Amino acid sequence: MLGKYHIVTYGCQMNVHESEKIAGILCRMGYEETSKIQNADIIVFNTCCIRENAENHAFGNIGALKKMKKQNPNLLIAVGGCMTQEKGKTEILQKKFPFIDIMFGALNVEELETLILRKRQEKKRVISVRDEAGEIVENLQPFRTSYPNAWVNITYGCNNFCSYCIVPYVRGRERSRKPEHILAEVRSLVAEGYKEITLLGQNVNSYGADGSTGMNFAELLDAVASIEGKFRVRFMTSHPKDFNEGVVKVMEKHPKICRLVHLPVQSGSNAVLKEMNRRYTREKYLEEIKMLRERLPEAEVTTDIIVGFPGETEEDYLQTEALVKEVDFASAFTFVYSPRQGTRAAQMENQIPDDVQKERIMRLVELVNTLTRKKSEKYVGKTVEILCEDYDEKKGLYMGRDEFGRMGYFESEKDCIGEFVNLQITKANGISLYGEVSNEKERW
Ligand code: SAH
Ligand code: SF4
Ligand code: F3S
Repeated sequence: MLGKYHIVTYGCQMNVHESEKIAGILCRMGYEETSKIQNADIIVFNTCCIRENAENHAFGNIGALKKMKKQNPNLLIAVGGCMTQEKGKTEILQKKFPFIDIMFGALNVEELETLILRKRQEKKRVISVRDEAGEIVENLQPFRTSYPNAWVNITYGCNNFCSYCIVPYVRGRERSRKPEHILAEVRSLVAEGYKEITLLGQNVNSYGADGSTGMNFAELLDAVASIEGKFRVRFMTSHPKDFNEGVVKVMEKHPKICRLVHLPVQSGSNAVLKEMNRRYTREKYLEEIKMLRERLPEAEVTTDIIVGFPGETEEDYLQTEALVKEVDFASAFTFVYSPRQGTRAAQMENQIPDDVQKERIMRLVELVNTLTRKKSEKYVGKTVEILCEDYDEKKGLYMGRDEFGRMGYFESEKDCIGEFVNLQITKANGISLYGEVSNEKERW
């Protein structure tokens, strides 16, 4: 064994999966995982810069290592991810934290091994951040930590340039993986016993839009769900400007595709959507929800919402509230707008004061919680199929999600992690469900 590694991950699911790739590199080099940061010989920060508070977290946690590094000069500290891709950020990180040994970007994770080897030979800090994405690297075997769930990238990067968003600047232009690579990966995951496959992309609906794959997203989804075996398929994120009936038809055809669509609306006001450069209207969004529910009445929708975008009036905000009520989302991630350097919205003059932003987010969170709680209560008495993911030590209960992402807790004599279990729901507490294992027949 070379030593122990510890990875600290911030940000989206894609970054969580990227950390699994980083773990794969470290494992192959001979490192072993430790869950205790103080026992590590190498600590990797996989950062996010989507909002200011994501960056502040990373700054705080990296800063806290100064003492550890003093006590153990052999400790290696590596910082990668989206923050290092930001213009000028590596310089700031270098100045603020001279004890960082390695800096790499979100676009060259595969170089990490070379960088570590170089650092072990050289005294000085090793920095390698690439401005543009190269060819997709296919031979990075991730060390997966989320059994029975597995994440599979279908696209990288983003071309949309929503005016508030930094992702296109740090993750580069959209690239689609070849269908044969995606399908081979899913096939082998299913053969290994994974029970839930989530296809990942910033905008999954634009898969293959550059003509490089010979398949669009609906066709890819069809091919993935046609793979034999009992497993669930999820996909995220869908973009309302591209979400379409073709995808819903494929969902209709395959019961193994979860009846849940994550469709970030961001705002309910057309004026704000236009300034955000989202390229759809409130009406188009509602049409899509209608189409989805006509074809799949049981379908649920989750979303992302930003409040306090530059120029957002009280009237605009109320339109968001009205839309949230109308759609009746299963859940929603709600964010306060955070200006990101280099984006168009950060230059806009009519930034909203903090107190107005705070007041709006509080109202919205309250509304979303009320809707989610009501949905939970409707579960009581029903039997749902749960994929058991883990054992909650504190509660002394097994836990797993239904196809709509709801967490259900239950008692079990035997270890059932990785198994589908029918749960009769006896109690709902906020967003959590509690139930008893039942023999009732499954939906499929
Ligand atoms: N590709 C996905 C989401 C990526 S980021 C999509 O297009 O929907 C996840 C969420 O973070 C976004 O949906 C948005 O709601 C939020 N977000 C992105 N940039 C933000 C910013 N500058 N301030 C606040 N929230 C932001
Ligand atoms: Fe950001 Fe928009 Fe791309 Fe999503 S679609 S990653 S919000 S630019
Ligand atoms: Fe994800 Fe954050 Fe990067 S949300 S793509 S890790 S900026």
